[in-house]
Amino acid sequence: MTLRLAIVLPTLDERENVAPLLARIEQALGPRGWEAIVVDDASADGTADEARRIARADPRLRVIERIGRRGLSSAAIEGICATAAPFVAVMDADHQHDPALLPAMLAALEGGECDVAVASRYIPGASAAGLAGAGRERGSRLAGRLARRLARVDLSDPLSGYFALPTARARAIAPRMSQIGFKVLLDLLASAPEPLRVREFPLHFAARRSGASKLDRAVAFDFLVGLYDKTFGRIVPTRFALFGTVGGLGVLVHLAVLALLFRAGDAAFVPAQAAATFAAMTFNFWLNNWLTYRDRRLRGAVALLRGWAGFCAACAVGALANVAVAGLLEGHGVHWLAAAGAGIVVGAVWNYALSSRFVWKR
Ligand code: GDD
Ligand code: MN
Repeated sequence: MTLRLAIVLPTLDERENVAPLLARIEQALGPRGWEAIVVDDASADGTADEARRIARADPRLRVIERIGRRGLSSAAIEGICATAAPFVAVMDADHQHDPALLPAMLAALEGGECDVAVASRYIPGASAAGLAGAGRERGSRLAGRLARRLARVDLSDPLSGYFALPTARARAIAPRMSQIGFKVLLDLLASAPEPLRVREFPLHFAARRSGASKLDRAVAFDFLVGLYDKTFGRIVPTRFALFGTVGGLGVLVHLAVLALLFRAGDAAFVPAQAAATFAAMTFNFWLNNWLTYRDRRLRGAVALLRGWAGFCAACAVGALANVAVAGLLEGHGVHWLAAAGAGIVVGAVWNYALSSRFVWKR
């Protein structure tokens, strides 16, 4: 029997869930014609080791372990690109998604009835019982409404983490995707060159079997970032917009420290200005590390110290470029405000380019 379907299972601390899930997949699909791919981000609980242990006895399971990387979206895409199967499904590894839907989803795809089969929590016959708490369900519905505008197709659950499609199609769309955060399906639908034909299948979204959810505030933030990326990202790249926002906040920090030392305290202007610059750079480094480059976050004292020094150096070069450009323009009769503005933009682009390249390098 040839390989028809790959089931991609992104995992983060799902050690106890893998073996029983494999058994349930086999129950749904039969013994052959499928493979499951665990894409693990170096889970602390040894999920990858456990998956490799299972895979030695059962080659239908494959394991990709990623070191120093994080993210459900990018894990799903990596799994999708790692299979030779003509169809691919993405599914949570925590048993919230019922593998019993797989045969119907696969049949719809093989019959050409749709481009994407989506397991939905919000159509008749489905339920979202597994969403612990009314707040979480309300959040999910609100995010869903925002997402539907972007998806360009009418579907009840664009944030579902359980869907299937032809692998070649996913591979073709993948380079256009932003691959940020949790919203793989939405990213796929919004990034496809033409609207995809979707068919939904009612899912009873169950409670997770073991372990805890990884959807936290950071993921909610990623969702907003993803929305920005899909709407304005082509005009002002998302990361640069974040970097610029952080820079703006840094100006406020600078002014606050300056006011505190120079106006309220009795420091002389130059040391106060130096201290304010220092405080703003440190603040910007911290916030950029936490927000703008959260996917490449520097951790540990040595990496942080080195990163911070590099960031300050990048800022110094940026400041030189800023002053040089502003001075040149002002010297040629450009209004001082416009000259200063141009200097700031040039300095920011410099800072951004240098710190992407040298501080938060891939
Ligand atoms: N490799 C990898 N890397 N896997 C991850 C990561 C990550 O950074 N974060 C989460 N996962 C895995 C989990 O181990 C689990 O198998 C699956 O992705 C879903 O994560 P959960 O933490 O269980 O998410 P949830 O149940 O709170 O969220 C569900 O509902 C969302 C919409 O409300 C998921 O189905 C999401 O896909 C869905 O968007
Ligand atoms: Mn879950």
